[in-house]
Amino acid sequence: MATTIMNHPLIDHKLTVMRDKETKSNIFKQNLDEIAMLMAYVATKDLPLKNKEIETPITSMTAKELKRDVVLVPILRAGLGLVDGFRTIIPTAKVGHIGMARNEETLLPIEYYAKFPKELDIADVLIVDPMLATGGSAIDAIESVKSRGAKYIKLVCLVGAPEGLKAVEEKHPDVDIYLGTLDSHLNEKGYIVPGLGDAGDRLFGTE
Ligand code: PRP
Ligand code: URA
Repeated sequence: MATTIMNHPLIDHKLTVMRDKETKSNIFKQNLDEIAMLMAYVATKDLPLKNKEIETPITSMTAKELKRDVVLVPILRAGLGLVDGFRTIIPTAKVGHIGMARNEETLLPIEYYAKFPKELDIADVLIVDPMLATGGSAIDAIESVKSRGAKYIKLVCLVGAPEGLKAVEEKHPDVDIYLGTLDSHLNEKGYIVPGLGDAGDRLFGTE
C-alpha cells in the first residue's frame, strides 16, 4: 500500500521539544498527546465512509458516516502515550492492547500480552507506537492482529528509521504506514539517530 511521511510543521515543532534530553516526562507526554491528535487527523484521511439517511432540521439528506469501527492498538508500553490523543479525535474507537518488549541484546521483540476487541476483521485497525526502529515490534504486532482476522490495517509511528520502515514495507506490503518523521539511521544498540531516546522510559519516568 502506501507510506506517508507527515513532515507537518506543528508535529516537527512539538517533536523538537520531545527530542530535547532536558524535557521532563510531563512535558514529553503533553507534546505526545498533541502530536497524537495531529497524526490521527492525517492517518484517518482516507478511511472509507458509507451513506446514512438522516433528517436535518431543514430537510432529509444522504449523509456520510465511517464505514467501519476503528480499533486502536497501542504497542505497550510507549504506544499508550498515543491513545489519549487518538481517542480525543476518535472517541468511539475501541482499544486493543499488545505488549511487546525488545530484548536489548538480540533486539528481537517478545510478545507478553494481547487483548483485543471482537470482530477485528471488520474494523479499521490502527497500530500506534511512537518509535519504529528495527521494525521488529511493529512487524510482530501486525502479524498478531492479522492472525486474529484484521484486514484493514494502518501502522502509525512518530519517529521512524529507514531500516525499520524498509523491513515493515517488505514484510507487510498491504499495510499503510504513517510516520511523523523519518530519521537518519539506527545506532549499534538499535536506537534511532537522532531520535528521542527510549520513548517508554521518557514517557513513564523509568530512565
Ligand atoms: C520501543 C518502542 C517500540 C520498539 C521499537 O519499545 O516503543 O515498541 O521499541 O523498536 P523496534 O522497531 O526495534 O522493535 P520497547 O521494547 O523499548 O518497550 P517499552 O515501550 O516498554 O519501553
Ligand atoms: N525504542 C525506543 O524507544 N527508542 C529507540 O530509539 C529505539 C527503540
